[in-house]
Amino acid sequence: MDLLSLARTVKHRVEAPLTEALSLARIAADPRNPVLLTLSTALVNPLYRAAFLASAAGSGVLGCLAVRPCDLESLAEYLEVPQEDRPRLRAWLDTGVRLGELGTREGCYRLRSPAARLLALPGNDAVAATLEEILRFHVPVLLDAPRMLTTGRRYSLADQDGTVIARSSLALRAMVEAALDRTLDREGPVRLLEVGCGTGAYVRHAAEANPRLTALAVDLQEDVAARAADNMAAWGLADRVETRQGDLRTLDLQPQFDLVTLHNNIYYFPEEERVQALRRARALLAPGGRLLLTTSCREGGNAGLDVLNLWFTYADFGGPLPRAEELTAQLEEAGFTDVRATRLVPGQPFRAFTGTSDGTPVTDTPVTEAADGISRTTAARAAAPSAQSL
Ligand SMILES: C[S@@+](CC[C@H](N)C(=O)[O-])C[C@H]1O[C@@H](n2cnc3c(N)ncnc32)[C@H](O)[C@@H]1O
Repeated sequence: MDLLSLARTVKHRVEAPLTEALSLARIAADPRNPVLLTLSTALVNPLYRAAFLASAAGSGVLGCLAVRPCDLESLAEYLEVPQEDRPRLRAWLDTGVRLGELGTREGCYRLRSPAARLLALPGNDAVAATLEEILRFHVPVLLDAPRMLTTGRRYSLADQDGTVIARSSLALRAMVEAALDRTLDREGPVRLLEVGCGTGAYVRHAAEANPRLTALAVDLQEDVAARAADNMAAWGLADRVETRQGDLRTLDLQPQFDLVTLHNNIYYFPEEERVQALRRARALLAPGGRLLLTTSCREGGNAGLDVLNLWFTYADFGGPLPRAEELTAQLEEAGFTDVRATRLVPGQPFRAFTGTSDGTPVTDTPVTEAADGISRTTAARAAAPSAQSL
């Protein structure tokens, strides 16, 4: 090496670390760094963790791992993942490990975080489903709202996963059951119609409280009704409870029920159609029969209910949560007597509404055509019901 080359090499070796140190310092001093760090710890990581937990709970992976640690192959078999997709399953599970929700030991995945352990408990299924509802439906409306205004897109019932909503609704179970306990006759024969039955859990509660109760459980959504029918069979209630797809607005039945229940679904009806829907419910009651309607109301709401309202504002069906006074007035307008609204827990937005039908024939006006493409009710047939019966 000549003297000149030697000098150049020495100069480069001294300058290179200096340049690297300088560029590192410049990167570290980027003013966006603290913002990104704050965002990722305060907002992004919890969101990733929540999304992982919701899908791990919904897919049954948390439940499997609660029984015992499992290797990739047994989880793949449980989830029926084909051989070629197993590396993808591993990538998802390993992300759960990186997020701190799962751990690994001796080649097996196991539950690690307290949240993962809690959501794995069968008794917390409604909480896990609520998390999934928030991520699948609440987050998108917050994200999409401005774009939906420019494109004119609206959510439809098909945008909801009815079976997730049916499970998440059970987060209100204690309050709905308390309301049912106050209303239900536990001794005599009772014919119950449950509208929008979801999982069917409340029909089960009623049937267990009164062994002489028979019921018709209907839900607008085919898959929800099918799941409820499976549940009734599994609960040994198929001989007392008929479960089927049905729409309150078009149910063509005799006024035969002692009790009609609507839990957590009055906001599936647009505000201007609620009186009509309530009239339909009254038309199905035998004289002296009662309605029990439970729902969260706008008064005393919380962020979750605000976003639920927002979702329905961007949907082509349904409407906002009711205000207690308005719903009471709508029940009276629909012909119910002795209408009462009860707040089950002080300060909470959840209320039970009851009303009685005196058997006066319902004289309906036609239901405005629904925007969801599901029901197209013409003049209500309540005043002259057909012979179809339970
Ligand atoms: C939020 S979920 C509540 C399910 C259940 N009642 C509960 O509280 O767990 C509302 C349910 O009402 C059903 N629903 C909405 N409109 C209906 C209608 N017009 N007739 C029958 N069911 C309806 C929906 O399909 C959905 O399953």
